Amino acid sequence: MYIVFEGIDGAGKSTQIQMLKEWLEANGFSVETLVEPTDSEVGQLIRRILQRPDATSDRVQKTLGLLFAADRMLIMDKLEDESKVIISDRSFISSLAYQEPADWIEVLNKYAKKPDLLLLLDLDVKTSVARTSGEDTFENEEFLAGVKENYLKLADNFTCEIIDANNGVNKVSSDIKKAVAPYLGICPDCIR
Ligand code: TYD
Repeated sequence: MYIVFEGIDGAGKSTQIQMLKEWLEANGFSVETLVEPTDSEVGQLIRRILQRPDATSDRVQKTLGLLFAADRMLIMDKLEDESKVIISDRSFISSLAYQEPADWIEVLNKYAKKPDLLLLLDLDVKTSVARTSGEDTFENEEFLAGVKENYLKLADNFTCEIIDANNGVNKVSSDIKKAVAPYLGICPDCIR
């Protein structure tokens, strides 16, 4: 099973992925986690470009669209292991939410794998900006408001559970477990 976490910056994806991983392992599943952008050469280049002041400009956004697709291609084979639950921090759905135009992003990501389950951590934009360092040029209110809107529209195209990420860490974690349990045949009473 391939589970993808998406959401605007600061939504708590990495913390929640770790908590879900530990819980699934306690329930007997073998879990592998992935993060995009990766730590490949392409991923490192992406992280540098994200800090450019013009990162939201059309030209740089198109460059990033190409690089994110290439970075993703490098880890494609890791998604084939069917003995494991694979949890990914972001996917091509981030590219659809952050970059444009959508039809071109779709072509670039033609070979990207669709998740079996998308968990969209939905966070208020003001909270996002307060939580993040502001180091990346994407971490600004106006830009993230557009990204949040894109995500909510994209959710309809996937098997998706929308999680309210404005709550405390433990409440969000238990909402995620409740959402995931039926997909993995875990009994609802076993959720703590
Ligand atoms: P992020 O998960 O926020 O990394 P970190 O926790 O190190 O800050 O990802 C970095 C940024 O990249 C984030 O603003 C989202 C953006 N991004 C895209 O714009 N398109 C993509 O396809 C991906 C994977 C990420």
